[in-house]
Amino acid sequence: MAGEDAFQYRDGELFCEEVPARRIAEQYSTPCYVYSARSFVTRYRRIRDAFAACDPLVCFSMKSCGNLSVLKLLAGAGSGFDVASGGELYKVLLAGADARKTVFAGVGKTSGEIEYALKQRIFMFNVESRAELACINDVASRLGERATVAIRVNPDVEPHTHEKIATGKAEAKFGIDIGQTEDLVADAADWAGTDIRGVHFHLGSLISSVEPYVAALAKIVGLIERLRSAGCNVDRLNIGGGFCVSYTGEEVTSAEEYAAAVQTYLEKSDCKVIIEPGRYIAGNSGLLLTRVIYRKETESGKRFAVCDAAMTDLIRPTLYGSFHRIWPVRSEAGLPEVVRPGKNPVGAASAEVVDVVGGVCETGDFLAKDRALPPLKEGELLAVFDAGAYGFAMSSNYNARPRAAEVLVEGGECRLVRRRETYEGLVRLEKEFL
Ligand code: LLP
Repeated sequence: MAGEDAFQYRDGELFCEEVPARRIAEQYSTPCYVYSARSFVTRYRRIRDAFAACDPLVCFSMKSCGNLSVLKLLAGAGSGFDVASGGELYKVLLAGADARKTVFAGVGKTSGEIEYALKQRIFMFNVESRAELACINDVASRLGERATVAIRVNPDVEPHTHEKIATGKAEAKFGIDIGQTEDLVADAADWAGTDIRGVHFHLGSLISSVEPYVAALAKIVGLIERLRSAGCNVDRLNIGGGFCVSYTGEEVTSAEEYAAAVQTYLEKSDCKVIIEPGRYIAGNSGLLLTRVIYRKETESGKRFAVCDAAMTDLIRPTLYGSFHRIWPVRSEAGLPEVVRPGKNPVGAASAEVVDVVGGVCETGDFLAKDRALPPLKEGELLAVFDAGAYGFAMSSNYNARPRAAEVLVEGGECRLVRRRETYEGLVRLEKEFL
């Protein structure tokens, strides 16, 4: 199974590493995110080693999974971090990250965030506009500092992913047009507060083939050469994240395949290489445990399994129509090796087609639609697989629903790493104004 075998059925029972998922649900209740420490570290090492020929700085994109204990685990394994806000920088530093291995992207960095990051001495800013570069220059000059920056270039490449997570096409808000980069770098050459040392791109997320990276690098390596000829000492190349994971159990492009496809370009660039995987490390390393509260069936025969997890816990199906495998935690046959959208993995005779939904007041609140599953009972525990990336991280309090607990498993041990939110917690910032 995906996730470096961290989640496996044994004798009809789902385990995370050596801990039965049922025990975690009994101890911490549901909905509950369960992470495998082994999977996080294994996948961090796997992508680092895949790119070993260029000795990359791996900056885990913490927006995918920002639990402090997970960040601490990865920092301990040697990971750097990609942050997208002052809050994310605060979190990684609190978790023990090395600021000198931290990169900061995002189109809307405020001067306050820039000052904070400068004072923490991060590795590099990934700059997304001329106006932002000017702002960084002002802030750094005022502080008597010189900010190290990479220009985030928009290479205008089609990443063949969901439109909401494609970032490297010309019409996206991200990065600076490749055609505008040389002029900007020339204009900024004598700015006292900025030192342009790098080129960054991030094409989008869940990119399932190597071609977009190859197409982007073919453009970017030429750009780096031209920038150098014009006197700019570019010595850092950040190729972003976007490396896919399997959501069906099928084989997908591996870290080794991505690395092999871009290797000659990375060598040719003669730069320190940075990669920013988020989903690759986190996606298969976590699942969401939820319990079926009610079953219901309409007159026309449509069935619903109403669960205690909802779009507030995992919004990916609602937002992108994403597919996550869902399966009972107790299952004699275990999770079929491959579960694909629209396919019946159970066998026609025993399957029941259901919508797996939450309790939020929106028709868009679902975890799965028309899913063939073994008949579910009320009270049954379900696992929503491959929810480690952009799962808890994108959760919300909509409908005044307290956010789920998070549990980290290491071998035979499991421990709470984020408490379930409480009603009291929901009103903490408002109550004083009553
Ligand atoms: N670097 C930058 C600058 C990014 O903006 C992102 C993700 C990454 C790296 C990591 O990308 P990854 O390796 O995880 O694909 N919420 C969406 C995904 C949004 C990705 C945002 N940026 C989802 O649930 O699919």
